[in-house]
Amino acid sequence: MVSIYFFVGKGGVGKTTCATAFSLTLALRNYRTLIVSLDPAHNLGDVLGLKLEEKEVKVVDNLYAVEIDFDKMVHEHLKQLADKIKEMYRYLKVLNLDKYIDLLKHSPGIEEYATLEKIIDIVEEEIGKGKYDVIVFDTPPTGLMIRILALPTITLIWVDKLLELRKAILERRLILERIHGEKTRIKISDKEYSLPSSISEDPVYRELLSMRKRVNMLYSKLVDKNTTSIVLVVNPETLPVLEAYRAYTFLAKINIPVKALVINKVLEFKQPAREFKVKIEEQEKALRMVREMFKDIPVVKVPLLPEEPIGIEKLSKMARYLQPILS
Ligand SMILES: Nc1ncnc2c1ncn2[C@@H]1O[C@H](COP(=O)(O)OP(=O)(O)OP(=O)(O)O)[C@@H](O)[C@H]1O
Ligand SMILES: [Mg+2]
Repeated sequence: MVSIYFFVGKGGVGKTTCATAFSLTLALRNYRTLIVSLDPAHNLGDVLGLKLEEKEVKVVDNLYAVEIDFDKMVHEHLKQLADKIKEMYRYLKVLNLDKYIDLLKHSPGIEEYATLEKIIDIVEEEIGKGKYDVIVFDTPPTGLMIRILALPTITLIWVDKLLELRKAILERRLILERIHGEKTRIKISDKEYSLPSSISEDPVYRELLSMRKRVNMLYSKLVDKNTTSIVLVVNPETLPVLEAYRAYTFLAKINIPVKALVINKVLEFKQPAREFKVKIEEQEKALRMVREMFKDIPVVKVPLLPEEPIGIEKLSKMARYLQPILS
């Protein structure tokens, strides 16, 4: 069974770097690992020093990486939506369905849903193929990622409501059908269409059910702590810690387990220079906040490294700090 990791945190804290170093740890321990960048502003390739694309690129033995093409992903999502709407409401062609579909592009939440669909595709494909033991997702900054992680919970609520509604509509159609002794028909531009009146013949009901099944598959994985681990990443500063705490409490509310917190870029001085006194005090304050706010999960410290951890060699050295996430 595949394990899933999401590295989540404020912009610039080191999500991509930590996710990559952690993936190298996994690969070294013989876990077949796929690291996937979901961030529209990719830097996974930069961190690894490799040119990445949608197709898997081998990083080292047991580790492969992909960067999802964000624009293509949104475009494909919209196309799929448009195709489904056209298929389900064929008889509404005359009502300028294309204009309505065009509007979808500008609807709020489209990018989040497109990302959710992509995550489902990747997890589903993995379940089918069983190629990897672990999938590590490098994510966009907290705000957007939290909204994406909350989508399955929200979607299941509204899909269930829509299924109920649709069922009520079909039941009423069936009553009318029984009264009239024939299917309800509508006439648009001299053409007649008969309307479905049972669950089995209704494409809308079928589509809602299939959507429910896909989303529920991911939901069941997200809330299962044996499958999914969220790793929050912060720097030893007040704002990233506060943001991570908000994410932590929100994820707890929707039953998504947080596995660990990484404090990245911790300043370590034996004898700090006077100029760093204020900085060190700030760091101490942030570390105290972390101790109070994240009592229930392991906290992993990664020092601020003298050299930017770019490239497999430097990342492999950094990886040892991230090993405790696994324990
Ligand atoms: N422990 C560390 N020591 C030194 N530099 C680090 C460390 N961790 C990350 N960096 C550097 O910090 C910068 C930001 O890291 P990274 O790109 O991983 O952050 P991010 O959270 O993924 O950012 P974004 O939100 O833009 O995706 C990079 O230049 C990276 O090399
Ligand atoms: Mg990043």
